[in-house]
Amino acid sequence: MGLRLRLWLLLLLHLLRAQAAPRSFVVDRGRDVFLLDGVPFRYVSGSVHYSRVPRQLWSDRLHKMRMSGLNAVQVYVPWNYHEPQPGVYNFQGNRDLVAFLKAASREDLLVILRPGPYICAEWEMGGLPSWLLRKPDIVLRTSDSDFLAAVDSWFHVLLPMLQPWLYHNGGNIISVQVENEYGSYFICDYNYMRHLAGLFRALLGDEIFLFTTDGPEGLSCGTLQGLYSTVDFGPADNMTKIFAMQRKYEPNGPLVNSEYYTGWLDYWGGNHSSQDLESMTSILQSMLELGANVNMYMFHGGTNFGYWNGADWKKIYQPVTTSYDYDAPISEAGDPTPKLLAIQKVISQDGDLLNFLNVLCPYEPIRTQLPLTFEAVKQDYGFVLYRTWLPQNFTKPTRLWAQNNSIHDRAYVMLDGVFQGTMERDKEEAALFLTGQAGSTLDVLMENMGRISYGANFSDFKGLIQPLVLGNAILTNWQLFPLNIDALMESENRAFETQKLDLKPPSGPAFYSAMFQLPGPAWDTFLYLPGWTKGQVWINGFNLGRYWTKRGPQQSLYVPGPLLLPAGASNSIKLLELEQAPPRTQIQFLDRPLLNATIC
Ligand SMILES: *[C@@H]1O[C@H](CO)[C@@H](O)[C@H](O)[C@H]1NC(C)=O
Ligand SMILES: *[C@@H]1O[C@H](CO)[C@@H](O)[C@H](O)[C@H]1NC(C)=O
Ligand SMILES: *[C@@H]1O[C@H](CO)[C@@H](O)[C@H](O)[C@H]1NC(C)=O
Ligand SMILES: *[C@@H]1O[C@H](CO)[C@@H](O)[C@H](O)[C@H]1NC(C)=O
Ligand SMILES: *[C@@H]1O[C@H](CO)[C@@H](O)[C@H](O)[C@H]1NC(C)=O
Ligand SMILES: *[C@@H]1O[C@H](CO)[C@@H](O)[C@H](O)[C@H]1NC(C)=O
Repeated sequence: MGLRLRLWLLLLLHLLRAQAAPRSFVVDRGRDVFLLDGVPFRYVSGSVHYSRVPRQLWSDRLHKMRMSGLNAVQVYVPWNYHEPQPGVYNFQGNRDLVAFLKAASREDLLVILRPGPYICAEWEMGGLPSWLLRKPDIVLRTSDSDFLAAVDSWFHVLLPMLQPWLYHNGGNIISVQVENEYGSYFICDYNYMRHLAGLFRALLGDEIFLFTTDGPEGLSCGTLQGLYSTVDFGPADNMTKIFAMQRKYEPNGPLVNSEYYTGWLDYWGGNHSSQDLESMTSILQSMLELGANVNMYMFHGGTNFGYWNGADWKKIYQPVTTSYDYDAPISEAGDPTPKLLAIQKVISQDGDLLNFLNVLCPYEPIRTQLPLTFEAVKQDYGFVLYRTWLPQNFTKPTRLWAQNNSIHDRAYVMLDGVFQGTMERDKEEAALFLTGQAGSTLDVLMENMGRISYGANFSDFKGLIQPLVLGNAILTNWQLFPLNIDALMESENRAFETQKLDLKPPSGPAFYSAMFQLPGPAWDTFLYLPGWTKGQVWINGFNLGRYWTKRGPQQSLYVPGPLLLPAGASNSIKLLELEQAPPRTQIQFLDRPLLNATIC
């Protein structure tokens, strides 16, 4: 069955490819999502500025971002960094934008490019060259002819250079932002925005996805027809309200927060800024659950080397410090922070098992009046989903029970996708009460906990041995889905990622995944899953076994060194948590086993 499923997956991917436009990134307004190569796609991105990181460290930072679960990076191009004098261009060394794009590509990261001309970014003059001010009357960021002439000649150098790097041309740039929070500028010059839009189209073509980004107050002026409107806001803002405002400008299409603030900048003489971890991760999780696309600003802040820091003017002049650490998930020095670990866990929630049914059981379910055993449907190990429908209304809580101890061995019960609880062999006292309407879907995930290996009669059939009974009604008319979970767990991460779209808060059986790197060689270690309830865990596709932290006594799982890849390579961990993940979905690797429940 494993082989057949894998063949089927290949076939599916092939079909999707066949239907999809080759290399395209577009909006699907019907489904409110992006499509990458014709397949629904959501980006979870982080900002990093090549101008704030020494070139020697670009790959390191990008690698850490990819390892954190991001699939894209968002990048500003500071004009003044590349055109130090009018008509004098510098794309060498640390200013080698194409080398940066290549480095991102090597890390399998897509790029959301923000070439300005104005970028803000707390960068010197918001990225505009100070030589513009040699014409003292120039009105920046408007259709002032001196300003436009300078912008035009710069973009005639920059944008053609980017052409081959656009996604549909074989590169990794999926989208390009026009200007930057223009709606927050004190002048609202639509002609300027129209001019820019025309210039981008003329130099980049019709295919590239162009967008604008504004805070909620800036949407009325910052948006322009033909440019997709996105918003930016931080953890303290009202997500519901601001996404509703985006919807006024984009009634259909994906929700996008282009700058979700993981931290904040510092000013000389001010207090150090920090963003508390709890609210940052909880709003991030809410956005991901909504299916929104998110870019975290910053994911790695870096340093304002030289004279490159910007300044704010809020009643007084406030220059930005040299450090642009930003309290971001990856510190200024490139170290992971507690925030990074917290984000890793949030991104890693992949959704309910029920969402994966078509992948886990690609065949038609088996229809049967009375439930069949695992053996009868040729499922040796693991899990089979049993599905039926309530035959009548149950308005009062009604007991769901199994006759003759016929749960072999554990049942995870969902009604219309909502987790209700568990039933267990030899634990008949644990009653489960349901209310629901006629026709509601009753899903019972049955787990084989291991066949009896000693005793007189060890013909230990698995599954639902007899039909469940709800009140007095014997439930019949079942559909059985034998699940090949291991094939999914052994598969490439990309296949797993495409399933992430239907995110809602997992209740009951749900998948989790994360990537991690070892600090050094791959030695034996012990995986500890504090606060997790019960489930199965895979390391690099290897099924490590069951965990049952809640019941114990065993708390840690042995991870043999040869299963792991040493420093420099990425390891994947995937979990099927059957009941309840902890609020902080941490995992830990210990240097000694915890086999005694009393420790937990
Ligand atoms: C957020 O905005 C929504 C819609 O405007 C509103 O119903 C809700 O009360 C707001 N929440 C908070 C915490 O202010
Ligand atoms: C820094 O924080 C302290 C204590 O909260 C406050 O009294 C002070 O006004 C702050 N300074 C600035 C510049 O915001
Ligand atoms: C079940 O309840 C629904 C709504 O409460 C009602 O419309 C329906 O008629 C009921 N069905 C039966 C068979 O009583
Ligand atoms: C199963 O239980 C029912 C009552 O719950 C009983 O009538 C029946 O005899 C039992 N069947 C077997 C095979 O034990
Ligand atoms: C052994 O046990 C299974 C159920 O656990 C039962 O169906 C079967 O009849 C038993 N066989 C014998 C020989 O008792
Ligand atoms: C388990 O922990 C308890 C309490 O700490 C201790 O008394 C017992 O000796 C431990 N057992 C083992 C096998 O370590």
